[in-house]
Amino acid sequence: MPNEMSRDTIQHSLLHHNVLIVWRPEYNLGIPIIDEQHRGIVTTINSFHYAMQHKHGESMLHPVIAMVKEYTHIHFEVEENFLKYCEFPDLENHIVMHNELRHELTKIGGKSLMNQNPYQFMDFLKKWWIDHICEKDRVFHEYLLKIERKK
Ligand SMILES: [Fe+2]
Ligand SMILES: [Fe+2]
Repeated sequence: MPNEMSRDTIQHSLLHHNVLIVWRPEYNLGIPIIDEQHRGIVTTINSFHYAMQHKHGESMLHPVIAMVKEYTHIHFEVEENFLKYCEFPDLENHIVMHNELRHELTKIGGKSLMNQNPYQFMDFLKKWWIDHICEKDRVFHEYLLKIERKK
């Protein structure tokens, strides 16, 4: 029966949808606004991954780049203000790393349509997630624990 078939297809797609990044509690840094924004970045990566798997990567590329640019602008500002506020000692270096990512995003966003492809942008997003959020941002958590212990 066609209806049963389509229900099966939907069910299969829901149960076996391959989420690229599954959010785990250990990703939380303990700073609610930053954790919330990191989760937003993961959602964007997962949505874009889903679009690519369903052959919508090309048409989603521009809206996703524009969205990530705006989101990055806000997120880095929030993070830098927070680090200033809690006198994070490595603030200058962290701003340098953010500036490199800002620069890379401007470069990607400035490319012509012909020179962009979803796979390259996904590589950039994965690098941002793995090298920056999971590694460089992780130190805030340790720093906050250190401050807490001193109190
Ligand atoms: Fe971050
Ligand atoms: Fe950061």
